[in-house]
Amino acid sequence: MCGIVGILGQGPVAGQIVDSLKRLEYRGYDSAGVATLEGGLLTRRRAQGKLKNLAARLAEEPLAGSIGIGHTRWATHGKPTEVNAHPHASDGVAVVHNGIIENFRELRAELIARGVAFTTETDTEVVAHLVGEQLQYGKTPKEAVAAMLPRLRGAFALAFLFEGEEDLLIGARQGAPLAVGYGEGEMYLGSDALALAPFTNLITYLEDGDWVALTRESAEFYDAQNRLANRARVRTEASAFLVDRGNHRHFMSKEIHEQPEVVGRTIAHYLDMSAGRVSLPFELPVDPAALDRVTIVACGTAYLAGLCAKYWIERFARLPVEIDVASEFRYRETPMRPNGLTIVISQSGETADTLASMRYAKGEGQKTLAVVNVTTSTIARECDVVAPTLAGPEIGVASTKAFTCQLAALAAVAIALGRARGALTAEVEARLVSELIAIPGLMAEAIKGEAAVAQIAHQLSRSSDVLYLGRGVSYPMALEGALKLKEISYIHAEGYPAGELKHGPIALIDEKMPVIVLSPSDQWLEKTVSNVQEVAARGGRIILIGDARAAAEADVHLEKFIQMPDMAADFAPLVYAVPIQMLAYHTAVAMGKDVDQPRNLAKSVTVE
Ligand code: M6R
Repeated sequence: MCGIVGILGQGPVAGQIVDSLKRLEYRGYDSAGVATLEGGLLTRRRAQGKLKNLAARLAEEPLAGSIGIGHTRWATHGKPTEVNAHPHASDGVAVVHNGIIENFRELRAELIARGVAFTTETDTEVVAHLVGEQLQYGKTPKEAVAAMLPRLRGAFALAFLFEGEEDLLIGARQGAPLAVGYGEGEMYLGSDALALAPFTNLITYLEDGDWVALTRESAEFYDAQNRLANRARVRTEASAFLVDRGNHRHFMSKEIHEQPEVVGRTIAHYLDMSAGRVSLPFELPVDPAALDRVTIVACGTAYLAGLCAKYWIERFARLPVEIDVASEFRYRETPMRPNGLTIVISQSGETADTLASMRYAKGEGQKTLAVVNVTTSTIARECDVVAPTLAGPEIGVASTKAFTCQLAALAAVAIALGRARGALTAEVEARLVSELIAIPGLMAEAIKGEAAVAQIAHQLSRSSDVLYLGRGVSYPMALEGALKLKEISYIHAEGYPAGELKHGPIALIDEKMPVIVLSPSDQWLEKTVSNVQEVAARGGRIILIGDARAAAEADVHLEKFIQMPDMAADFAPLVYAVPIQMLAYHTAVAMGKDVDQPRNLAKSVTVE
């Protein structure tokens, strides 16, 4: 994950910036850079590889200047070269950037048509040119940034430094975190509080859509409509702990909000963004064309990520998928063919049943691919190929960001299998890839609905039973919604395939039980809508999570409607995960439960 640092200091800042970037090294990166103002002029030093290379460059050619920005880059668009390293500069502005500018291709084409020459392969460079243009038109730096921001789509954080502006840094946040730190006559910007811990523990976190203009003595916050905004200062514990909760009350809340960023990062890890195709960061351990099936094994939420992947692999790769929970699979003595593919999924990489299942599959001669978040774990060490999720440490016992990152990695694997088996045309792959690239922005959009979801959760907290329904790939999401809710609120919840309603659970429907229906505009919409009508006909309390079309087609009284952004439905689970996580979270908070450490549960289940 990229890291951002900005300092308005009293003395030379380049060294301080590098020191503070070191605190972000745990996020992973492959190049780094710093820009400062020397005599009002922008100067930059960048280096491929680790920060020690940048420090060596700075030792050879030091940078003076008491204002600057720095960055550790984790390559998404373009190779990890010095040229592609941030900061990027154009016409009096330098910028560093975390996340993905989704519409960079069209912006790049538009700029090229206006005669702009690009020097890098990055998406970030479009930002530098767009702001540079505005400066050329005579706008002030603040006006230039305000005019440029609405042009960008995606989930990102940005920091800007301007030629001739010795007392101004501008930061902006949309879907990726950014914090302001307050010092004595100094001011800081950082992509997390940890970067700023050596300087200050007084922090303001930008809210989504915010941008901020910093001088050494002031911080002016603006919201997405460019209105001045009040944002609270909080004391952070970042200096004492490697991970802190930021301005969130619980780790689970922080982890829900981190998803646009970490999912964006995971997606980028599996795609060649510029070419618009999947590019797995490893060799598959089998010949996909020779496979007659794939086996998936996992536990809990990781199992449900696998169940979503079953839909994707069967559809995109025309390959049957057998899936089971690891505690069953390990003792089933299922016959397996040598050189087949078993995918295990685990956040911790230490789950005893998943590990035992993987060992069983290996014993049967299967090749194993492990989707894991902790890449130093036992499962990661023992599998044939690691497919990492780049969620960062997940502290809340209820899995959120690890789940959506698992979905992201599995979606890419499904597409890669489809291509390798000749089941997907290049055209369809390109469409699916652009749908994946749009996901972080859509997740950020879904997070904006939190206040409304919290209100619904307040009512949900008075229920004793909840039924979740979904069809197709929304069925595993119904299971996940129910699992999340029961884990942290202790409300009894069940997930069902909507089509199974008539085969039993419809008997439960009464005016007391909330029925939460997941209904993206997918190929199952019409059928899901029929099930909604069946619930309505029996006086059921319907909470619909869907887009405007789903609500219109349902055409019944909805007790509540959680409106989701319009989107292509292939990867809807990644976006629909957000409201179901927020529903569970706010229900548990309303009930005063221990959200991060629910009773009886452990983060890593290393026993049977
Ligand atoms: O570390 P793992 O992904 O292997 O853990 C599997 C399950 O224990 C885990 O997903 C559990 O269901 C979570 N608490 C769900 O939120």
